[in-house]
Amino acid sequence: MCGIVGYWGKKESVPILIKGLKRLEYRGYDSAGIAVIKRNNLNYLKKTGKVRELEKEINREKLTGQIGIAHTRWATHGIPNDINAHPHMDVSESMALIHNGIIENYSTLREVLLKEGVKFKSDTDTEVVVQLISSIYKKNGLSLEESVRAALQQVIGAYGVVLVSKDEPDTLIAARFGSPLVVGIGEGEYFVASDAAPIIDYTRNVMYLDEGEMAIITNGELTIKNIFENKIISKEISKVDWSVEQIEKGNYPHYMLKEINEQERTVVDTMRGRLRVEDGDAHLGGIRDFMPRIESARRYYITACGTSWHAGMIGKYLLEEYAGIPVHVEYASEFRYRETIVGPDTVVIAISQSGETADTLAAIRKAKEKGALTLGICNVVGSSISRDTDCGVYTHAGPEIGVASTKAFTAQVTVLSMLALMLGRRKDRLSKSQGQEITRSMNKLGDYIKEVLTDDKQLQKVAKDTQNVNHYLYLGRGLNFPVALEGALKLKEISYIHAEGYPAAEMKHGPIALIDENMPVVFIAPHDKTYEKILSNIEQVKSRKGITIVITDKHSKDLDALADYLIVIPSTHAHIFPILVSIPLQLLAYHLAVLRGCNVDQPRNLAKSVTVE
Ligand code: AGP
Repeated sequence: MCGIVGYWGKKESVPILIKGLKRLEYRGYDSAGIAVIKRNNLNYLKKTGKVRELEKEINREKLTGQIGIAHTRWATHGIPNDINAHPHMDVSESMALIHNGIIENYSTLREVLLKEGVKFKSDTDTEVVVQLISSIYKKNGLSLEESVRAALQQVIGAYGVVLVSKDEPDTLIAARFGSPLVVGIGEGEYFVASDAAPIIDYTRNVMYLDEGEMAIITNGELTIKNIFENKIISKEISKVDWSVEQIEKGNYPHYMLKEINEQERTVVDTMRGRLRVEDGDAHLGGIRDFMPRIESARRYYITACGTSWHAGMIGKYLLEEYAGIPVHVEYASEFRYRETIVGPDTVVIAISQSGETADTLAAIRKAKEKGALTLGICNVVGSSISRDTDCGVYTHAGPEIGVASTKAFTAQVTVLSMLALMLGRRKDRLSKSQGQEITRSMNKLGDYIKEVLTDDKQLQKVAKDTQNVNHYLYLGRGLNFPVALEGALKLKEISYIHAEGYPAAEMKHGPIALIDENMPVVFIAPHDKTYEKILSNIEQVKSRKGITIVITDKHSKDLDALADYLIVIPSTHAHIFPILVSIPLQLLAYHLAVLRGCNVDQPRNLAKSVTVE
């Protein structure tokens, strides 16, 4: 949800800022802008569309400068156009500000400023912040830092803001309340960004701003203070371990395809050092000290959004079976406002790739208020969710740039499988040999994924033959029902084909009415205890002339006869199968999106990290 980048140093800042914006473009891509200070002048450019449109404009205008800020937008208030793009300027165009988040009391602040005679240019909530800072700066004779602090104390909402002013041309100020900001510390230079991606070309030393903190960079010095109390805060420097290759597309046409293909390695990375194959057990260091409370909990809640919620649904099935503890899976947006049965005897597991999803963060805070133990499953190290939870497990899938989540999902399910296994073993609901069966299958997962990735011709054929349909249905039973939901979400978000996932048996309670010769139905049909049942569901679709696409783990006479398209993937433990079968579903969505000419990595209206409610 909007990407922010700022540079303070002696180098030419424009190329650094533009490269940074390109790295952050997955966070928002409807417009972009830049403001730079050069010899006490503040110049800015803003453009609707992708960063490359802004770049063209910069080249035309030959914009240069040293200290600067840049922004790529995902619109909340005001349509995507040049005026609403960030940076926003004050009336005298001496200050420029970029913002990620939502200012909830912007109309009240706007009213006050209008009465003072301030003329607003945009329809955004952000503009009030810069106008307010400017008004305080001009009226009260305060420094820029003091004016920012005074203004932010009046602001209600979520923000990550960065500001520069030609009146104090050597200063860059960043502040965070609700939206992530990372400060990169280089040799005589500093970077501020929404995440580490724009920073790692220059330095691996970073500080993650916490809620209510501001960074003031002036005269080559960085000071971190509290926004509300003006106290200096001493913070630790963390090291970022991402590599540049990890955040670049390499030879792949899209990040999504790269990330799908990376899964043969990423699931192995998720399990590295955690799986005890011979003991039939797992070990998750980040929750070790909390195990007594996790084991003795009366109930678990899993809270998340989108794809992470689907991973949570798979987690529910596994945890209930292995740990024997009731698990409720709640969308974080519902959890945060609903009266849930949460207390000190509850563990709330929050799942998030980015670790920044606003609803999931709010759900954690609510769970903590109610005395629950909070456990995060996050991909981004140092993210807000990973820091706000009492304990947690990193998924170690590496940076995920494609808006459609792929490798983060399989990593989340892998972590949940290990968690369920650990609890099952401790609670004696799983014997050592049952545990070994699972760990051995998990150990082979990387090779199985490789096999699935090696040959996707049949999936390409399905995509080619069905590229013009308007709807798709995904059906699965048991653990594969949430996989069906995830398959449908992947398809709709990147190909814009309407898709729905259902528990296979539910089909006859409604969706069967939709079946005709134009409706492809994807069945997830492994040869497990649900096989016979799902076979009848396939027959029901077939007899209504639906297009049957069956993903299974071995050929059978029935499937060979019933499936219009049969995709056979390796056979594995039923509890691991959801991870493996997700991959052909990701590939199918990918091929369909490419054939339909869609922007796979940056689908319309979406953003990678949803940091607003
Ligand atoms: C996944 O493909 C989606 N783009 C989206 O549903 C995503 O999973 C959701 O916004 C949650 O994000 P998070 O995992 O970063 O919290």
